[in-house]
Amino acid sequence: MSAERANNWDAIVIGGGAAGLFCAGVAGQLGQKVLVLDHAEVLGEKIRISGGGRCNFTNMHSGPANFLSLNPNFVKSALSKFKPKDFIELVKSYNIPFHEKHKGQLFCDVSAKQIVDMLFAECAKGGVVIKNPVTVESIHQLDQTDGVGALWQVVTNQGIQTTKAIVMATGGLPVPAIGATDFALDIAKQLNLPIVEVRPALVPLSFTSDEFANLSELSGLSVPVKVSSGQKGQRYGVCYFDEDLLLTHKGLSGPAILQGSSYWHEGEVIQINWLNDVDCDELFNDDANRLKLTENILGIVFPQRLAKAFAEQKNLLGRKWAEVGKKDRQALKDLLTRWSVKPAGTLGWKKAEVMLGGVDTKALDGQTMMSKQHPGLYFIGECVDVTGHLGGHNFQWAWASGFACAQSL
Ligand code: FDA
Repeated sequence: MSAERANNWDAIVIGGGAAGLFCAGVAGQLGQKVLVLDHAEVLGEKIRISGGGRCNFTNMHSGPANFLSLNPNFVKSALSKFKPKDFIELVKSYNIPFHEKHKGQLFCDVSAKQIVDMLFAECAKGGVVIKNPVTVESIHQLDQTDGVGALWQVVTNQGIQTTKAIVMATGGLPVPAIGATDFALDIAKQLNLPIVEVRPALVPLSFTSDEFANLSELSGLSVPVKVSSGQKGQRYGVCYFDEDLLLTHKGLSGPAILQGSSYWHEGEVIQINWLNDVDCDELFNDDANRLKLTENILGIVFPQRLAKAFAEQKNLLGRKWAEVGKKDRQALKDLLTRWSVKPAGTLGWKKAEVMLGGVDTKALDGQTMMSKQHPGLYFIGECVDVTGHLGGHNFQWAWASGFACAQSL
């Protein structure tokens, strides 16, 4: 094979993570000559650390309502072409054992590495060439009349490659320690594509408020709550999530808070109903509870330490419920059902699971993920302004957007 031919590809995928490897495998198996370039020593690291090492690889109920984007309709086409059941079939075909943990979330029984290995095997089936670590220095659109049908040139620290299509799959900014970069956004900016402002999402929240001062001693406790976050008229409106909340030494975390964080903007309060699943009348009006201490009544539904902290907040520690006046009872109920706190901030990119915002979907064709302005340039996965809820939706977007792109290469 001539050097010219050897360095000329149908598609070069930049970024060998979830979306990039999946897209490359599908395209390769459809007969495309595909090269994957990644700057990391080890590929698929985010998959490997995901889901606590067990990778929540999809959600059986994943649908457009589980995604945030300036254009909520954008996801519909890709999600309909490649559904959770399609990925489940693939996982089953590799005999990877998995289970449903909670609300349709599917996790590997053994290890997330099995998903990484599966993606590599799919790439191998399609004859995909993977090069890493490679630094991609720049990309250039070629005059279409030049060369051997290539539209793009990719300049790397290991030579120049040409290709008909470039697939940007470099993900988002969370966890810079394992190689996250804003390369896709840089390329988009260079090519005058619009970007929706990015910020960390699915991220713990930190607090400095007085209310939190007492609760910060309760680090490690987890309780089911209903969280509401966001505001009417804001980009994504208000959300409500029934999930567990985790108290940490820095603030609040756990699924309820991570979900709420995607809707939260600096300066806003979030509201927590600690008694979401509890029948308040039964708890507070039951005659059997009249002579109990307030903290002991609360201890029926909360861990003891938390029950005490709540009673203390309203100066009801050590007081029998029968002795607590109507006003104080109401104040306690308000605290427990409408606890409003103003987070000081988020724990940032180091602790975020995903990036909110990204390449604006109005610049992309939702059927193919190709740039409307630049034929042959595609954006898939997390670098696009599509962010899933917690629970396997972000991987489903990586698979679905990668699949839509691969079909059209
Ligand atoms: P991904 O990050 O997977 O891949 C990007 C690739 O591009 C990487 O290989 C990187 O090295 C490479 N790259 C970056 N910059 C480059 C450059 N300049 N040049 C070349 N290569 C470059 N989601 C979910 O659905 N279920 C879950 O259980 C979890 N769990 C989870 C845990 C943690 C701790 C995090 C941080 C995230 C999750 N997620 C998740 C989110 C999920 O990991 C994420 O949405 C997908 O990995 C996104 O897939 P992408 O392929 O877009 O990016």
